[in-house]
Amino acid sequence: MKCVVLKDVKKFEVSKMEEPNAKDGSVLIDVKKTGICGSDIHYWDLGNPKGLVMGHEFCGVVTNPGNRKDLKVGDRVTALPISPCGHCPACLSGNPQYCPETWNKAVGLSLTNPGAYAEKTALRSDLVFKVPSNITDSEVAMVEPTAVGLHAVNLANIKIGDKVLVIGAGIIGDICAMFAKMNGASYVAVSETNKERGAKSVSLKCADEWFDAKSENFTQEVRKNCPYGYDVVFDCSGNSAAVSTALTMARPNGTVVMVGVSMDTITIPSIVLVMSELKVLGAIAYTKEEFAQCIKLMSERKIDMLRFVDEIVSLDGVQEAYERLTSGVDAAIKILIDPNK
Ligand SMILES: NC(=O)c1ccc[n+]([C@@H]2O[C@H](COP(=O)([O-])OP(=O)(O)OC[C@H]3O[C@@H](n4cnc5c(N)ncnc54)[C@H](O)[C@@H]3O)[C@@H](O)[C@H]2O)c1
Ligand SMILES: [Zn+2]
Ligand SMILES: [Zn+2]
Repeated sequence: MKCVVLKDVKKFEVSKMEEPNAKDGSVLIDVKKTGICGSDIHYWDLGNPKGLVMGHEFCGVVTNPGNRKDLKVGDRVTALPISPCGHCPACLSGNPQYCPETWNKAVGLSLTNPGAYAEKTALRSDLVFKVPSNITDSEVAMVEPTAVGLHAVNLANIKIGDKVLVIGAGIIGDICAMFAKMNGASYVAVSETNKERGAKSVSLKCADEWFDAKSENFTQEVRKNCPYGYDVVFDCSGNSAAVSTALTMARPNGTVVMVGVSMDTITIPSIVLVMSELKVLGAIAYTKEEFAQCIKLMSERKIDMLRFVDEIVSLDGVQEAYERLTSGVDAAIKILIDPNK
C-alpha cells in the first residue's frame, strides 16, 4: 500500500509498505483523513527517526473489527494513538498519558506502529471509538488535537472573567483559546510570529486580539489590557524563548501551562517564578474521557472544528504541505491528508 515515510531532515518520500496484519485483536482501518500535527513537524525538522510513518490524528473505516465485538466492517472510527500498559498506577487512575509505556508504541509516533500517512493502519482495539454519523471525516481527524487543547484548558482551571494569553496560534493554540473562552475567560489574547496566523486567530473568533511577538514593543503591547499580568498563560509555540515570555506575562500567583514541546534544554527566569509564586504546569495529551467528550462536543455542534481545516492534500502533497506549514508566513493552520486522493 502507499504511504509517506520520513527519509531525512525535512524530507519525506512517497513509498510502498506491507499492509498491516490483524494481530493481538487489533482493529484494521482504511484511512479516510489524517491530520498533520505540530509534533510531526518536530520529527520532520530532525529527520528522525528515519523510516517513521507518521499520522496520529485520523478518521478511518473499519475493515477488520479485531476483538471488538461491538464494531463491524464499515463503521467509522478514530482512536487514542497512545500505547499505555493498562496496569501501572497512572493507567489505573485513568491517566494513561502519564504511563511510562504510553509513547513507546504510539501509532504514528513510533517505528513499531506505523500511522495514518498511509492507506491503512492498525489500531489497539481498547482505544478505538466509533464516531456518530453526523460528524464528517475531517472533523473526526480533528478529535485528537481538540482533546489536547481540552486537556490543557481543563488543567488550567480558568475562572469566569479570567484574562488569558496564548503564545503561538497554531492549531493547538487556537483550540486552547477556543476552550478558554468556553470556560468563561473574558479576554483572550494570542501572540504570534506569523502575522497571518495571528490575524486568523481573531477572525476565527478564538482570540479577541493578537500581538506580534516580533514587534519591538511587544512587552508593552501585550500588557496593554493586562498591566498586572494574565491570569493564565498557555505556551503553545514549542519555542524555547517563548517559555520565558510566558512566565513574565503571568500575574502574581497566576498559572502558566506549557503545552508546546521544545526539544532544547531551556533557561528560565526562575526569579520571576519564585517572586510571583507562579503555578507552572505541563500538559500532555488527554484522558480517554476527554477524547470522548470532544467527539460529543462535535456531534452536538457545540464546537466547529471544520473552520480550522485549510486544505486537504494527497499523500503526494505531504512534503509541500509541510513546507507551507513551516514557512512562517502562510495562513494555513491545519492541513489534512486524504490517502485516497
Ligand atoms: N503537550 C501535548 O500533548 C501536545 C500535543 C500536540 C502538540 N503539542 C505541541 O504544541 C506545539 C503547537 O502545536 P501546533 O500543532 O499548534 O504547532 P504549530 O507549529 O502549527 O504552531 C506553533 C505556532 O507557534 C508560533 N510561534 C513560534 N515561535 C513563537 C514565539 N516566540 N512567539 C509566538 N508564537 C510563536 C508559530 O508561528 C506557529 O504558528 C508544538 O510544539 C507541538 O509539538 C503538544
Ligand atoms: Zn498531534
Ligand atoms: Zn500504564
